[in-house]
Amino acid sequence: MDPQQPRVLAGRYLLGEEIGRGGMGVVWRAHDQVLDREVAVKEVTFGVQVSAQEREVLRERTFREARAAARLDHPAVTTVHDVVEEDGRPWLVMEHVRSQTLLQLVEQHGPLRVDLVARVGLDVLDALCAAHREGIIHRDVKPANVLVDADGRGHLTDFGIATTTGDSSLTATGTVLGSPSYMSPERATGQQPQPRDDLWSLGATLYTAVEGRPPFDRGEPMATLLAVVGDHPAPMVRAGALQPVLTALLARDPQRRATADQARAAFEAALAAPATPVAPPAPQYEAPAVPAAGGSVQRFDAADLRRRAHDAKEALKALAEKHVPPPQEPRPRFRFKRRWVVVPTVVLLLVVVALVAGAVWLVAEGGQLLGG
Ligand SMILES: Nc1ncnc2c1ncn2[C@@H]1O[C@H](COP(=O)(O)OP(=O)(O)OP(=O)(O)O)[C@@H](O)[C@H]1O
Ligand SMILES: [Mg+2]
Repeated sequence: MDPQQPRVLAGRYLLGEEIGRGGMGVVWRAHDQVLDREVAVKEVTFGVQVSAQEREVLRERTFREARAAARLDHPAVTTVHDVVEEDGRPWLVMEHVRSQTLLQLVEQHGPLRVDLVARVGLDVLDALCAAHREGIIHRDVKPANVLVDADGRGHLTDFGIATTTGDSSLTATGTVLGSPSYMSPERATGQQPQPRDDLWSLGATLYTAVEGRPPFDRGEPMATLLAVVGDHPAPMVRAGALQPVLTALLARDPQRRATADQARAAFEAALAAPATPVAPPAPQYEAPAVPAAGGSVQRFDAADLRRRAHDAKEALKALAEKHVPPPQEPRPRFRFKRRWVVVPTVVLLLVVVALVAGAVWLVAEGGQLLGG
């Protein structure tokens, strides 16, 4: 777009400056000339490398999902006002929230306070519950998609951006799309999206906010995703009262994962708890910058991912078996002792000698009696 030429989208939305860009597109500040209000417009370009066929699937799904998301009306959901098609691309017209993303806050200030993170956690959880009640799964909950306003309230954005695996129309083309540090283990292995995927991603998002680094980060996207599937999150040092609930949200087994109700109770308790001093970081601890690769939408080959995830699981199993000491044979209580043979043998010999001596004496005595 020529920056000198103001562009009016769909004859109505006057595009202003660029607010930011991510893996799936560019966000513009815009003015809705009909309703005379400020809006944010996301031009969905599917920046990740996708084929023409996949692009078509994504385009269609984005329209479908964005229309569904537009039904959501909740204070913590960044409302989708409209979705229009221009230049063969979807453009989402959204509520404009004066805010910074959780990602920006962490990048600027480092690990955030437990109470602030608990507050944002409650807001995003409410947004997710409202969506789940409507049958909508977000699928890309991550720090870059959580907007925090000046009052410290959280808003979940990017509803309706198609970045999912497990959808037959896309996985049929052999592609998995997602942000590896924030993608639940089930989604990473190609299972159908479930509301509990969003809870795992919420756990990973809040972990990043409070710890200043993601729970899983191996630098390279595929390595990070394999860590999500087979490894434990890095130990927490700053999460304080939030630590148990974050651990429970990051449970690899969806059946053992914290439910929305459990998470809400824990966030409320953390918010109400007096601020306890969190253990100072170990001297060598330095929160690394939140990596771009783990937090932005990446493309994975589904078959390759499944194979590698399987290999990684097997390798971990083998490693675990190697470290577990082999089951010990119960020690036999019976121990052979030499005296058990020596003593009876000596006794037997003595008895034999005594018998022989007795017999000899009897014979001698008998001879004397007969002779006498
Ligand atoms: N509704 C909104 N109101 C105000 N700012 C927004 C809104 N939505 C997005 N932004 C801003 O635009 C930036 C870019 O958003 P975008 O969703 O394109 O990037 P992303 O989330 O990092 O990547 P991805 O494409 O993977 O979602 C965000 O970081 C945020 O600062
Ligand atoms: Mg986004």
